[in-house]
Amino acid sequence: MPIAKIAPSMLSSDFASLAAEAHRMVKNGADWLHMDVMDGHFVPNITIGAPVIQSLRKHTNVFLDCHMMVSNPEKWVDDFTKAGASLYCFHIEATNEPEALIEQVKKAGMKVGVAVKPKTPIETIFPLVDKVDMCLVMTVEPGFGGQKFMVDCMPKVQALREKFPDLDIEVDGGLSPDTIDSAAQAGANVIVAGTSVFKSENPKDIISVFREKVES
Ligand code: DX5
Ligand code: ZN
Repeated sequence: MPIAKIAPSMLSSDFASLAAEAHRMVKNGADWLHMDVMDGHFVPNITIGAPVIQSLRKHTNVFLDCHMMVSNPEKWVDDFTKAGASLYCFHIEATNEPEALIEQVKKAGMKVGVAVKPKTPIETIFPLVDKVDMCLVMTVEPGFGGQKFMVDCMPKVQALREKFPDLDIEVDGGLSPDTIDSAAQAGANVIVAGTSVFKSENPKDIISVFREKVES
């Protein structure tokens, strides 16, 4: 299994102090920062876009894992690459031409990921796996932080891991020290967590627990 990467979701941070929050997370052991981009159309919420990525990029070199919860993901590739995004993870449900989009993202110079919502069968993305850098298996319905981890998504992670032993498999939604065991056992190695990390007085401890569980 590939090494653990812990990616705090900046959706749970204080957006007014984004750079400071980013530095705080890196200091506490974060490998990546997870940036939740929502357009109010693909999901019923609006968050941030490329200008915010661009502003944050001026303050840090950390890997920015951009989770694109948007309709027409093709439309924002250029803006995000210019802004300094490291990885562009689109939703399979949002495009009819995933292969062309994957090529577009690669050509733009970003890593590329493909995400599936809880109700989307994992087999949908099997043909794309060897073309992407990461797969994201959502463990809540996308749109909001602070929801309950859906353990019934774990067979999807397991099926993906069995077929692709070296793949970066990300889980996102409701991850905490209480739920990490099933995700780690199923084979996830990229762990996104918003609420559990940001609400903690010791984010470092939470991040270490995630890493230990993935690596054990
Ligand atoms: C939800 C987002 C998640 C969210 C996770 O649509 O994709 O990244 O911020 O937050 P928690 O860890 O609070 O579930
Ligand atoms: Zn996310």
